[in-house]
Amino acid sequence: MFTLLKKTIRRLLKLIAPPIMKLCVRWPFFSNLYYCIDRSFEREHQSVLAGQIQYQNGISDNTIESHTYRLRRNTHRLEKGLISKPRRPVFALNYIAETVDSFQNVVLLETENAGHLSNSTRWALDVLSAYFQVITSNQSEVVDRLREKFNQTCEKHSLNAGNKTPISRDQTALPISIEQLKLLAIRRRSVRWYLDKPVPRNAIDQAIEIAGLSPSACNRQPFEFRIYDDPDLVRKLSSIPMGTSGFHHQFPVFVAIVGHLNAYPFARDRHVIYIDASLAAMAFQFALETQGIGSCSINWPDIAAKEKMIAKAINLTSDERVVMCLSLGFPDTDGLIPYSQKKDLDGLRSYNRT
Ligand SMILES: Cc1cc2nc3c(=O)[nH]c(=O)nc-3n(C[C@H](O)[C@H](O)[C@H](O)COP(=O)(O)O)c2cc1C
Repeated sequence: MFTLLKKTIRRLLKLIAPPIMKLCVRWPFFSNLYYCIDRSFEREHQSVLAGQIQYQNGISDNTIESHTYRLRRNTHRLEKGLISKPRRPVFALNYIAETVDSFQNVVLLETENAGHLSNSTRWALDVLSAYFQVITSNQSEVVDRLREKFNQTCEKHSLNAGNKTPISRDQTALPISIEQLKLLAIRRRSVRWYLDKPVPRNAIDQAIEIAGLSPSACNRQPFEFRIYDDPDLVRKLSSIPMGTSGFHHQFPVFVAIVGHLNAYPFARDRHVIYIDASLAAMAFQFALETQGIGSCSINWPDIAAKEKMIAKAINLTSDERVVMCLSLGFPDTDGLIPYSQKKDLDGLRSYNRT
């Protein structure tokens, strides 16, 4: 009875959707009501909530993920404070305590788990050290107290600061011209047909290292590249997205780029996983291309059944979302690629448009 009622409401909604949509655009409150019935956004906001809960719980339960994300963001903020012109005599007072707290936790957890500090934590060590040197004693009671706490952690774990702190930009001319970069951009096309030839992991790893150099909001890098080169897994996973029918059977490698919403305590940052991961994906594809490896982006559809399938297949937690997928491999010399005319410059840009 209830299902029938829901079905009838949904059918009715489809009929009257266009005028209601107009209403929602005019008065945003109505869009909340609209999406109570149309559940297209359900998984997205559930994941955003799951991410926020995991972040908060992780901070109180001292998990490495939450503290690492907080430490990365705040280390980035400290570096911005250090390079600001003119530099303020005292800065970061509203987040320096939580930064030292996260540093202490991450150092402890990494030493216990891995026996050594990651490069990211070394960066935090160096930047915090530079911060406490710049804000000299007696300028702020808070900073003095936290300097003491920071020094104690360093002493306890025998940590010596290095030089992962703000640097002068390399001014030597790059040996890459705009024409060369354009050649790479023209050569990179969506390749859908591949040779039956394994792709060396070393080549993929090198491309991921380059992808990892991409910008990301507050340098959090809230994503991972999940690479599948096991033929059974590739076959299973590559058939899940919708845009691969007719050619996924010959993918040598399938990639799922997964975003981590547990990097954020605030809903305002919910789109950052998509932006950061996409920037990295572009660099990844260029880096593959320089090694003669073709690739094709694959859309990830936000459809309940598909989401369930991929979550189960690759074991995603509630805060993890597939941003996009990719296929890659050595291009089949007989395989064609669509012409895909790009927009003219005039269709892509404007200056000072108001
Ligand atoms: C986010 C995104 C999703 C895409 N999804 C698919 C897809 O599901 N299947 C496919 O064959 N190509 C897909 N593509 C590739 C596009 O069709 C292709 O980039 C576009 O037509 C331009 O061609 P080019 O990549 O050769 O320049 C996708 C590209 C992007 C950026």
